[in-house]
Amino acid sequence: MAKVAVMGCGTVGAGVIQVLMMNSDVIARRVGEPVEVVKALDLREFPGTPIEKILTHDFQDILNDPEISVVVETMGGLKPAYQFTKQLLEAGKSVCTSNKELVAEYGVELLETARAHSANYMFEASCGGGIPIIRTLNESLTAEEIEEVTGILNGTTNYILTNMADEGKDFATALKEAQDMGYAELHPEADVEGWDACRKIAILSSLAYGGHISYKDVMTEGITAIDDADIEYAAKLDCRIRLLATSRREKDGIWALVAPMMIGHENPLTAVDGVMNAVMVKGNAVGTTMYYGSGAGSLPTASAVCGDVIECVRKQDVIRRDYSFEPIGLLSVDEIERPFFVRYRGTETEAIRKYGEISHITRLKKYPDEFGFLTPVMAEKAFRAAAAGDESVIKWIRRGKKEEAE
Ligand code: HSE
Repeated sequence: MAKVAVMGCGTVGAGVIQVLMMNSDVIARRVGEPVEVVKALDLREFPGTPIEKILTHDFQDILNDPEISVVVETMGGLKPAYQFTKQLLEAGKSVCTSNKELVAEYGVELLETARAHSANYMFEASCGGGIPIIRTLNESLTAEEIEEVTGILNGTTNYILTNMADEGKDFATALKEAQDMGYAELHPEADVEGWDACRKIAILSSLAYGGHISYKDVMTEGITAIDDADIEYAAKLDCRIRLLATSRREKDGIWALVAPMMIGHENPLTAVDGVMNAVMVKGNAVGTTMYYGSGAGSLPTASAVCGDVIECVRKQDVIRRDYSFEPIGLLSVDEIERPFFVRYRGTETEAIRKYGEISHITRLKKYPDEFGFLTPVMAEKAFRAAAAGDESVIKWIRRGKKEEAE
């Protein structure tokens, strides 16, 4: 029997215990032996649940148990997850995590520690919830020069944007629902300010482009400024607003951006609603591929963690080596060209004078003092310079180009 421990019995940790119990037969068949959670670490008590019998409040019980070879870290946050993970890896135990904050901040160091001690540090569940995107990048798209990764990588914000558009819910109500369903981070600013998606695109881009991309270098904007008027303009333009995380290889380097974007139905990401996530990966041989699934929530995320656990148990002697630690600096997004959607309280003549051939001029009954339009394709730097000095601009949102979906 393979003995596993779980650290952190919140939404995902409890899900891991549930999946390993619920699917114990099929997992035992695939692994060749049963996989059982023998210890669960948490500060809380869990009376009357399966966790009660295996609960410990002392990390040393896991660290010092020679029979435990794989540990699940679903505590979240950096402290004490970093220290615990480091000690476990140094003791030669493999660690499987859903903790994107820890992977984005200390992933390089923890992977090096794992290699040095013949252990594995696995993080499939850190990006895209239940979508097997890390394994796809590591094992399936290995013959590709990756050109672009674009995704909806945060379930909470996608749930909020979908519910604002389809149900007319306000931001706060939709966020509260996402929290109640266990999608949101403990501090939901990480979701709504885009930081969670930023960490995820940094992790995926590091794997895609073969070097370490720091999340701190990724330009990030969240969805807190999106209001019902923006959603209504988007609908009138036959678009959806989605928080997109993108990185792309250009001839002189790679850029990355997390920002709300107005995207049209030519882009399959418009069909990704609610808590669902999707990632499009474009390779130079395969073209565009797309991966879709639940981006957050207990069982989907737990499924990804369990997949890693099973891989560790099955191949204990195989140490993953598919991560390069060489840092990659990012290009600025200044020169990236696209149209921009603008809400404007000036005249059309004034807008044409400042931005050129504007199109899709749209008016909402509710907001008679303004109109919306799309600029022609412009470099971000040029658009920002024009908009910064233009007092008639109420706000603007990037419009995804059709090519970004191909
Ligand atoms: N808060 C995250 C989300 C959880 O909403 O996507 C999954 O990483």
